[in-house]
Amino acid sequence: MFLKKILTATVLGAALVSTAGVAGAAELKLGYSLAPTSHYGVGATAMGEELARLSGGKWTIKQFPANALGGEREMVEGAQIGTVDVVVTSSGPVGNFVADTLLTDIPFLFKDFKHVDAVLDGPIGQRILDQFPKHGLIALAWGENGFRNLTNSKVAVKTPADAKGLKIRTMENQVHMTAFQTLGVLPTPMAFPELFTALQQGTVDGQENPIGVIMSAKFDQVQKYLSLTQHVYSPALIILSPAVWNKLSAEEKGWFKTAGLAGAKAMREKARSDAANGVEELRKRGMTVVTDIDRAAFQEALKPAYEQYAKKFGQEKIDEIRNYK
Ligand code: PAF
Repeated sequence: MFLKKILTATVLGAALVSTAGVAGAAELKLGYSLAPTSHYGVGATAMGEELARLSGGKWTIKQFPANALGGEREMVEGAQIGTVDVVVTSSGPVGNFVADTLLTDIPFLFKDFKHVDAVLDGPIGQRILDQFPKHGLIALAWGENGFRNLTNSKVAVKTPADAKGLKIRTMENQVHMTAFQTLGVLPTPMAFPELFTALQQGTVDGQENPIGVIMSAKFDQVQKYLSLTQHVYSPALIILSPAVWNKLSAEEKGWFKTAGLAGAKAMREKARSDAANGVEELRKRGMTVVTDIDRAAFQEALKPAYEQYAKKFGQEKIDEIRNYK
């Protein structure tokens, strides 16, 4: 009896110790698709540091870069079911979970970074973030991926006519796919982890991404032409699993939000510095950079796509973003 009591106490004690260990110093798994030196890595580090500081080391973040936890869609699914704690992702696959984020994926919608910051950090951005809990996710902050540019291995693209017939990898995103189809490009939706090999083997002719991604993923090794199309702004989101969020006290929730904002700020700064300095670097690495893009012709060619977006989202919602100051 005495022995049984001791055993029971020991087992319970062990359980208490391990629970206390988790609750006392929990390490969260944070996944993203790029290298640790990328804007996502810089954002994740800033978030982790701020969270550890605010919580006195109770909450720390372990990073899983380079798709170690899967592609972006898989990681968001993981956050929903609680197998991934935090995800830094482009908005690319997020529209499949929270449809309103698709609004931000419309080509040529955002004019510049000032416009981006006003929309995402203002009431429109907040309204979209507020949709996430209904869909089993918590969005802590808007980070940044950046304005996307087209690369390919075949032709110097300046106009939509140049791009016709190219097989281009797109994200798994309906708004982007509609745009590329409208331009006469053959869109091939594909998860990012498969992209380098697809470009290398010629399964697709090209892809489109912000400068920081093109550098970090070393696409210059498999793509000749870089056209500075800036055809669409690509937001990023820092997403938390409700499995973590629902366990937090009100004070802890505040720490997570502040840390998310610190991560988003660092991410935007790095993405913008890459956008400013990376083109020269890519030229040095051997890419032919096409700067004289006929953006007006791209917007004109996209008119049928804009009609579809208006039907889907409502013209007033699109105009609200387009005209926001
Ligand atoms: O092209 C994509 O899928 C995204 O832009 C990437 C590179 C995964 C970053 O979010």
